[in-house]
Amino acid sequence: MTGTDRRTSEQEFHDRQAAHRAESFAAGAAHLRFDVNEYLDHETWVRPALAALGDLRGKTALDYGCGHGMAAVALARAGATVTAFDLSPGYVAECRARAAANGARVECVTADGEDLPFADASFDAVWGNAILHHLDLARAGRELKRVLKPGGGAVFCEPWGGNPLLGFARRRLPYPGKDRTPDEQPLTRRDLLPLRALFPVVRVTGFQLFGMVRRVRPNARVLRTLDALDARLLRALPALHNWCRYAVIELRAEALSA
Ligand SMILES: C[S@@+](CC[C@H](N)C(=O)[O-])C[C@H]1O[C@@H](n2cnc3c(N)ncnc32)[C@H](O)[C@@H]1O
Repeated sequence: MTGTDRRTSEQEFHDRQAAHRAESFAAGAAHLRFDVNEYLDHETWVRPALAALGDLRGKTALDYGCGHGMAAVALARAGATVTAFDLSPGYVAECRARAAANGARVECVTADGEDLPFADASFDAVWGNAILHHLDLARAGRELKRVLKPGGGAVFCEPWGGNPLLGFARRRLPYPGKDRTPDEQPLTRRDLLPLRALFPVVRVTGFQLFGMVRRVRPNARVLRTLDALDARLLRALPALHNWCRYAVIELRAEALSA
């Protein structure tokens, strides 16, 4: 499959999904309003990942592959001047409507993450959730580096593919929310090599080792115990980050000074 075929198939898939979602939003703006704190806590990695972007007040931020636009609203609430883009015009329309319904100012653009319509050094901060694993990382990485200001940083939350048992479950077991495009694949350390060639700092932090069992809805006490166990194990044995369900990938345009 060529890059153009992949982008066409990604756009069609996500436009279908957005059209389906739009049916429930047609009833009014109330369906688009949401609690930013609930969004930040809907998965364990979202709040710490956003915090890794630092203080966003007065900064320019880009939501890369914005989809529904909840992160764009969260970035605006954190004080950033926000631009959000997506390949799917349907999702861009949802992002625009969501920003308006939540009183957030967000510039919404239909664009390809591998060929961005923004000037060099436009953004202090880039955010992306579940987007890099849809892209050609050599092409997207070059664009990302181009639009980041010197000293800027990017944070992406991505499904991680380092755990063979989880890989088997993802391929074989039925569970809710498995609807995927034909080309997306959880990322592995090898997939990040083009980013390592472009960015002096690439930091990968795993989230949900045993905690990933939340996908089968265990009771709250079991989950708290497993999350606490994860925190201890991941601190003591860094190699286990590669076995987690999701990774937060931080990129810095310049090496951090000592
Ligand atoms: C799994 S969704 C994630 C959306 C959103 N970031 C979120 O947190 O839910 C992946 C998104 O990537 C978008 N996408 C796929 N390929 C893209 C590309 N080449 N450029 C920009 N967006 C793309 C899709 O349209 C879709 O909205």
